[in-house]
Amino acid sequence: MPSFPTYRPRRLRRTEALRSLVRETVLAPSQLVLPLFVRPGTGVRTPVSSMAEVSQTSVDEMVRDATAAAEAGVGGVLLFGIPEHKDETGSSAWDDDGPVQRAVRALKHELPNLVVITDVCMCEYTSHGHCGVLVNGEVDNDQSLELLAREALSHARAGADIVAPSDMMDGRVGAIRSALDDAGFSGTSILSYAAKFASAFYGPFREAAESTPQSGDRRGYQMDVANVDEALRETWQDIDEGADMVMVKPAGPFLDVISRVKEETGYPLAAYQVSGEYAMIQAAAERGWIERDRAMMESLIGIRRAGADVVITYFARAAAKLLRARG
Ligand code: PBG
Repeated sequence: MPSFPTYRPRRLRRTEALRSLVRETVLAPSQLVLPLFVRPGTGVRTPVSSMAEVSQTSVDEMVRDATAAAEAGVGGVLLFGIPEHKDETGSSAWDDDGPVQRAVRALKHELPNLVVITDVCMCEYTSHGHCGVLVNGEVDNDQSLELLAREALSHARAGADIVAPSDMMDGRVGAIRSALDDAGFSGTSILSYAAKFASAFYGPFREAAESTPQSGDRRGYQMDVANVDEALRETWQDIDEGADMVMVKPAGPFLDVISRVKEETGYPLAAYQVSGEYAMIQAAAERGWIERDRAMMESLIGIRRAGADVVITYFARAAAKLLRARG
């Protein structure tokens, strides 16, 4: 490589036109996915106090938000449900008239070109707030599989393009794949939360989804934050069981995991910039400590640069609008 003064890297940084000509990573609105929290009722819009500009909404209000996102070019939405009632087994998760199922049908009717992804997990539906069924105080893996498959099937029946299991039970991708295939939904895709870590950054989400565990924590099923070899094993296992796309979550503190999973599997990879990552940027910006839009775009381009094809982010609409405005 030539050295100074032959090589002067500043030459290509002199104007925005030059910088954009040689920019290595691009972010397109179509690569962004917006998470949405749906609850029963009509005309409901309840702000989430820890997440500026994020609300729980009823289906009608959700369609408005999804329409605005789609108009900005956002590629897809990821739906979470807050049910009318919770019980020990989370039985409302597979209610064909639940908020998520109704939301999917409304979206497929109103916005047929928007990709609809549903989060498949029990924690929003169980009275204890864990991601599967409790047996003697522990989340029972194998008994949870059947319930997760029922939930995924109900989402597929409603018309979801992609179901995304986030529970972290072993074997759930295989259980869901065969339940879908047996019922004639061989065309419904699975995006597995393959490397999902037991993270402190989910705090604000648990307020938004009303899914805080009533006792204990999720470290018995979500991954230890120190592990990357294990993330590869989890990902390969999910691919082996039929995952069409894989996810790394959270995104910002796990860029090395994103990069290794992408390099080693070559599979379509989504990274989830989670509620805590979002809340930190919003909170610092509210105090005037950082510039919101620049911090937002830097965090998103960093996730793309690490190797994510798709970025799931609460900033999806704001980022898409900004990208559109820049042309
Ligand atoms: C459900 C689920 C969680 C998130 C997505 N799906 C919470 C958790 O595992 O506790 C977190 C998303 C976010 O923080 O934005 N299991």
